[in-house]
Amino acid sequence: MDFFNYRDGRLFAEETDLATLAARVGTPTYIYSKATLALHYDRIAHAFAPLSPLICFAVKSCSNLSVLRVLAERGSAMDVVSGGELHRARLAGVPHSRIVFAGVGKTEAEIRDALGGAALRAAPPPAGAPHPGVSTPLCPDPDPIALFNIESAPEFQTIAAIAKSLNIPCRAALRINPDVDPHTHAYTATGKAQSKFGVDLDRARDFFDRYARHSHLKLTGLHLHIGSPVADTAPYVQAVTKALALIDNLAAHGHPIDTLDLGGGFAADYETGLSPVAADYAAPIIPLLKDRVSRGLRLILEPGRTISANAGVLLTRVQYVKQSGPRKFAVCDAGMHTLIRPALYGSFHFIWPVAVAPQHQPPRRAARLDLPGLETCDVVGPICESGDFLAQDRPLPPLARGDLLAVFGAGAYGMVMASHYNSHPLPAEVLIDGRRATLIRARESYDDLTAHELAPTDVSI
Ligand code: LLP
Repeated sequence: MDFFNYRDGRLFAEETDLATLAARVGTPTYIYSKATLALHYDRIAHAFAPLSPLICFAVKSCSNLSVLRVLAERGSAMDVVSGGELHRARLAGVPHSRIVFAGVGKTEAEIRDALGGAALRAAPPPAGAPHPGVSTPLCPDPDPIALFNIESAPEFQTIAAIAKSLNIPCRAALRINPDVDPHTHAYTATGKAQSKFGVDLDRARDFFDRYARHSHLKLTGLHLHIGSPVADTAPYVQAVTKALALIDNLAAHGHPIDTLDLGGGFAADYETGLSPVAADYAAPIIPLLKDRVSRGLRLILEPGRTISANAGVLLTRVQYVKQSGPRKFAVCDAGMHTLIRPALYGSFHFIWPVAVAPQHQPPRRAARLDLPGLETCDVVGPICESGDFLAQDRPLPPLARGDLLAVFGAGAYGMVMASHYNSHPLPAEVLIDGRRATLIRARESYDDLTAHELAPTDVSI
């Protein structure tokens, strides 16, 4: 089911006409469909139901508070990787007991914040000192988060020391690096031996021998995340198989494991029909884990993209159409500063005008559609770099100044990776619920751009 549809040549998100909406809120704007977020969450929950997992939405993929609230109300827990994401999850109403915290570089301030209000009261940040990661002085949730996903020995030691000094018991999973190839972009492959993430399998036993009996940081879990997006189920099967062998080995040596966090990475279908669906991922994983789960193993999943990517489109307006040498360019008000995925990873996003003639209504989302009268062009942004493109060599209906384009599959790693480069204010975000459209993040102004620079402060020592 798709909630972004053309009707009589006009693109709708649920019951909302996007051309009319863009005239009201301007461009560039990210649009999210509430029904799609809920549907995609439900698909994962349903597919993995036999394993009763704790589904922790990866906040990093789409972190707007209203999006998090939609998912939390649907039953989702949250996976965070920074104090900022933790802050967002809390503001969205998610209790610490439903938050897991990964990330290779957790700072002491972030760790104290994640240990809960009791920790912050016991050791408040020094008054007046810059304290990155903790902007609210007291955390409303008194308890620690559900799980720290530990990436290294020094990180374990740091969290354990803080927890002990504050006398706050908490739980951890060791992130293992299973050394499987997820067949994805090098920048987002995380489960291969040479990546910076986790601890390799050979060192895991030793890690447990050294640290698993700590008085305050209880190490009884394994975590892994092999990469993103992973468009094949085989690497998950390999990773789970290796993790289970390690779990048996650890148990045999006195380290019972009660939690297995499989991370995220399930693909989103950027071209209709090309990616596995939630049930495809679940099918080979369920038989591997069902028995273990029935014997008490708790499963955690951290899906991001598969829930949020196709729940969002980016609306952008063509400013100019120009010919340069052999190439035709549609220069838009969105670019690498708005959606960096094409520039950074060469990612494909389907792009199509929001209003089209009947013969150009797209039958599906694909790089090359065989429709009459298309013209090949590059869809580019205003940024002063040649790498600033949203699409290259893309057959599109003829474009003109003022046309509105929709960039599909932009709900994940879109707004969250947007920047101010060339001093562009960040775009607006709108949540659609049927006919109701809610501005869930106002477009930034030039004053927002400069707000932190207007009062230079003497910090010399
Ligand atoms: N868990 C961990 C530990 C992760 O590092 C990630 C993503 C996820 C879960 C969620 O993965 P997902 O289900 O969304 O694929 N910026 C890149 C993607 C980077 C993913 C980073 N980690 C992109 O635009 O494709």
